[in-house]
Amino acid sequence: MSKKISLVLSLAGLWAVSSALAMGGKPKAGDEEAINARIQPVAKVRLGAAGPASSNRGNRSGEEIYRTFCTACHAAGAAGAPRSGNKADWAPRIGVGLEVLTKTSIAGKGAMPPRGGSDATDEELVRAIVYMANKAGANFKEPVAGAKPTSEKNPEEVAKAACFKCHETGEQGAPKLSDRAAWTQRASKGLDAVITTVIRGHGKMPARGGLADLTDDELKKVIALMFKEVGAEAK
Ligand code: HEC
Ligand code: HEC
Repeated sequence: MSKKISLVLSLAGLWAVSSALAMGGKPKAGDEEAINARIQPVAKVRLGAAGPASSNRGNRSGEEIYRTFCTACHAAGAAGAPRSGNKADWAPRIGVGLEVLTKTSIAGKGAMPPRGGSDATDEELVRAIVYMANKAGANFKEPVAGAKPTSEKNPEEVAKAACFKCHETGEQGAPKLSDRAAWTQRASKGLDAVITTVIRGHGKMPARGGLADLTDDELKKVIALMFKEVGAEAK
């Protein structure tokens, strides 16, 4: 049995057992048949979804991906999945932005397997997320077909918004942008070493300066910009 199917089976089993409990005490041996009967339709749906890859792969709409792969959990909220069209479930997730949601969906999160267990391409996955989130009040734009799903962020804006929060004021002991000596000393380690520390996090500084969705490349640009700002030349 594939991992995916057994996961759904165990989710369905949990649900069946807990509803059996809710309906009156412990599940008895005789309940097993009833439980199996309830699990079956779910297992069948997922078997269908895990079938041969669609010939239209890459061109499916958000709604199609959603109906094929995501409803199993997101329609009713199985395993704590945010329910499609439910504003309260989605509000905090919409707040983190489409890029972060895309990253977590690609990687998987909690009880959600990577890509929601689908064969969706990155673009298709984004479309499905846009479809679900917009039904719950978001105003996300679907990526244009063939375009890069995430436009490269302007590092200057990113830095001003997130990094200067600590580095302008020296909050948490961050080296201040006005403290040239502190930066010159850091610059002497070379840009690569500094980037590595920022990616990993260092002392009170969270990994990636708290910006989990920033790529290494973007981070590099922001750091270079910070060095430029203080007039310290990094190797
Ligand atoms: C096996 C059940 C399951 C399937 C199938 C599934 N999800 Fe999920 N999904 C979850 C659960 C559970 C969460 C909540 C995870 C958490 O917050 O710990 C979740 C959360 C999410 C989130 C929010 C992520 C975040 O960062 O908070 C998005 C977006 C999402 N799913 C998209 C999808 C899409 C798109 C599909 C279909 C391609 C899909 N899911 C299929 C269970 C599922
Ligand atoms: C929560 C506050 C905070 C935020 C936000 C933050 N930093 Fe920092 N940063 C620190 C602190 C504190 C240090 C000093 C860590 C130490 O030396 O122990 C530091 C150190 C650094 C250093 C020097 C690393 C080294 O090798 O010595 C760089 C470069 C840096 N931060 C870049 C960034 C960038 C880029 C961002 C935004 C993406 C950022 N920081 C966001 C607090 C922060």
